[in-house]
Amino acid sequence: CGIVGYVGPAPAADIILAGLKRLEYRGYDSAGIAVVTSDSGTGSGTDSGTGSGTDSGTGSGTDSGTDRAADRPGRRIELVKRAGKIANLAEVLQSEPMPADGVGIGHTRWATHGVPNDLNAHPHLSYDGRVAVVHNGILENHALLRAGLAEAGITTVSDTDTEVAAHLLAQELASGQDGAGADGAGADGAVDLAGAMRAVCNRLDGAFTLVAVDRDDPRVVVGARRNSPLVVGVGDGENYLASDVAAFIDHTRDAIELGQDQVVEIRADGVRVTGFDGAPATTTAYHVDWDTSAAQKDGFDWFMRKEIYEQPKAVADTLLGRYDTDGSLRLDELRIPEYELRLIDKIIIVACGTAFYSGLVAKYAIEHWTRIACEVELAHEFRYRDPILSGRTLVVCISQSGETADTLMAIRHASEQGARVLAICNTNGSTIPRESDAVIYTHAGPEIGVASTKGFTTQLTACYLLGLYLAQVRSTLFGDEIAVLMAELERMPQTIQRVLDEAEPVLELAADFADQPSVLFLGRHVGYPVALEGALKLKELAYIHAEGFAAGELKHGPIALIEDGLPVFVVVPPQGRDMLHDKVVSNIAEIRARGALTAVLAEEDDEAIPALADVWIRLPKVSTLLQPLAAIVPLQLFACELATRKGHDVDQPRNLAKSVTVE
Ligand code: G6P
Repeated sequence: CGIVGYVGPAPAADIILAGLKRLEYRGYDSAGIAVVTSDSGTGSGTDSGTGSGTDSGTGSGTDSGTDRAADRPGRRIELVKRAGKIANLAEVLQSEPMPADGVGIGHTRWATHGVPNDLNAHPHLSYDGRVAVVHNGILENHALLRAGLAEAGITTVSDTDTEVAAHLLAQELASGQDGAGADGAGADGAVDLAGAMRAVCNRLDGAFTLVAVDRDDPRVVVGARRNSPLVVGVGDGENYLASDVAAFIDHTRDAIELGQDQVVEIRADGVRVTGFDGAPATTTAYHVDWDTSAAQKDGFDWFMRKEIYEQPKAVADTLLGRYDTDGSLRLDELRIPEYELRLIDKIIIVACGTAFYSGLVAKYAIEHWTRIACEVELAHEFRYRDPILSGRTLVVCISQSGETADTLMAIRHASEQGARVLAICNTNGSTIPRESDAVIYTHAGPEIGVASTKGFTTQLTACYLLGLYLAQVRSTLFGDEIAVLMAELERMPQTIQRVLDEAEPVLELAADFADQPSVLFLGRHVGYPVALEGALKLKELAYIHAEGFAAGELKHGPIALIEDGLPVFVVVPPQGRDMLHDKVVSNIAEIRARGALTAVLAEEDDEAIPALADVWIRLPKVSTLLQPLAAIVPLQLFACELATRKGHDVDQPRNLAKSVTVE
């Protein structure tokens, strides 16, 4: 989910709506905004928009929007929320603008608890209308807390876990006013919103970012974070809270990282951070050096297509400054001393989704170059199976966003067990690199399309650098061998550019295959993860059945799927220099004999291909281990084009979110 909070002189609703649009990639099944207003209102009540809002439900206990406005004449929280994409919310705000007050919060949702309808959309209001809350994460003990609220006569109206937090905050504020609140009492002895937030957070289990406003204090927005992201944007006479800096980058590039279990209060003139215990916390300020144009489509129809075409630059930027003219590799951000790297006896790569497939490729390269045993595992499987780890294990976690909850939990577990943790990440200041012992940043720039593309190729690049660096430190490759491999790696941006320049046949193929119900992908060795990633792209974007298989496994089962006219992509290793080439060629013959329509990715002068390929997607000559950097590109384009032809939203495929911050 994406969260934005604002305090300042500008109309909060406008700032928040623009910020939410920038965060829409984090979830887009509903969205909402709450603004604290001190005007007397024009009768739209707390909840504008028909059928929406917390208080439109039945059995809502004390909850009633217009009554609340009457309770406190001149002060109320105005709330608008809508199921569906942010465009739906924007449409409502166009016809029924929110008040121009400068304190508010907003949310774009990826549903966990409760279907994505208006009612379950955030923000959620407390039973007394005093507090509005947005939330990212899962409150694992929500059922217990809900039962406690019910005993106090407070019933929830939505199916969300979040609403519970709104009621608890209101209870806490109310109890403070009775003189009973202890933590966070303001100067007048009453509990303020930050104090209430600390008290509530101490009762919550699970992962959460919570951001709230208080009707009775229209100068402050309060946020809290445990295991979910939240950053502060520091402006001049205005301040921001957001899930990531993209939300406020048009207004300020000065940001503050929040640590684990911290509560932040933002006001127009200041920011205050404490721990959940109320003690002042130290924070780290940083400057965001993104180019804002990176978040524009630049004439492309989709961010994803633009990002596919950015790959030559993204890979080049990731390689930049890593290889000295004296022939030595430098990974400056790698804070693990060389002597420790020499002691490593096992590498475990953990990741999810596309990042996992980049890890699968990395295993082949790292083992080959370093002779260190390397396992690759889905982060969520690794975390809960009691893996064998020691101080000599290097856990490499790969995450574009640096926020994936499954990956975060995996590295926490690895650290607790004494392993060293190295992050490969694209997002400066995100949680995963902060909690790792070391980091290699990929320099892909912001990736907006939900389906990862330049994320994948830059992750591969960083993995190759890591493998070669370990080989250098441990002397498993000679300097001149590293030099040859680095020279080839440094040529890869041009190689990828050539693949892009010659992509026309793939785009035509997408037109031909647009009505196919199923597509298979085959590969061996590093071509196998490429096949898996090619299939994932098609599933994510085109919503058709797609599967990747190890070509050698075909005869052990999947070959039963082959029938007349079934499209099958096959990734062929380089000819002549690779013993697997002929085996993959035999696999193509086997599927053709059974009627498959073969789209073959093979080197441009591979003599075996003309007789076997219905369509030949020509790849430039590269060595086997680096071939995935080139071979994945046509498959990305194929999925993007096919989904476009089917009329799908390529940048925001259904049910997905770019950054999944729940386990
Ligand atoms: C989500 C995205 C995928 C991504 C995966 C891992 O599922 O939809 O595209 O590959 O998360 O994300 P990460 O940010 O950890 O690389």
